[in-house]
Amino acid sequence: MKVRFIGHSCFILESNNASIIIDPFIKGNPSATIKPADVKVDAILVTHGHSDHLGDAVEISKRNNAPVIGTFELVNYCISKGATGHQMHIGGGHDFPFGRVKLTIAHHGSSGEDIQPGAPCGFIINMGGKTVYHAGDTGLFSDMELIGETNPIDLALLPIGDNFTMGIEDAILAVGMLRPKRVIPMHYNTFDLIRQDPELLRKGLVGKDVIMEVLRPGEETEI
Ligand code: NI
Ligand code: MN
Repeated sequence: MKVRFIGHSCFILESNNASIIIDPFIKGNPSATIKPADVKVDAILVTHGHSDHLGDAVEISKRNNAPVIGTFELVNYCISKGATGHQMHIGGGHDFPFGRVKLTIAHHGSSGEDIQPGAPCGFIINMGGKTVYHAGDTGLFSDMELIGETNPIDLALLPIGDNFTMGIEDAILAVGMLRPKRVIPMHYNTFDLIRQDPELLRKGLVGKDVIMEVLRPGEETEI
């Protein structure tokens, strides 16, 4: 499966027969190298209602006739703006044509300017024979141990920006609990307030059985 980093917390996952985008913050994203109109996907997964995650979800949904997938409240908001959607909630999983999505907890907020979108979440995605965990915006939480125990995670996408989410120290602890094969940091360096050196994460993971990859916006990797 191909994993393409668009920037911030936005990734496109592409298997042989499907592709999805997560947290499609593109237009207002100073690091994004594509336009919403360039995105061709089968589904749009959104972790929470903050504008740096919800981003261009509604526009991409309309253009692709693809569902927004997320919590009940957030998806209802997107539907009210003309998107199509599939409402879920934390702890629930569903088999979609492209693969399976399960919503996890995330410790964060979620409301936007004109929206009350309920709780934020993370995603466990089974697609193309791989398991990807996108943590969303969250602080460290000990249930990551359980997530790691019950899911053989091929790739963990973890925020490291600090201030609004986990910083590097807690991301190192998260990797210890999740035990993924591979980790890619996200949610850093988009704005000054979340400036981080991802090489410090690499140093903190020395000796642990994990591959850490740093992708620059626009870069992709194969897992
Ligand atoms: Ni947020
Ligand atoms: Mn954020």
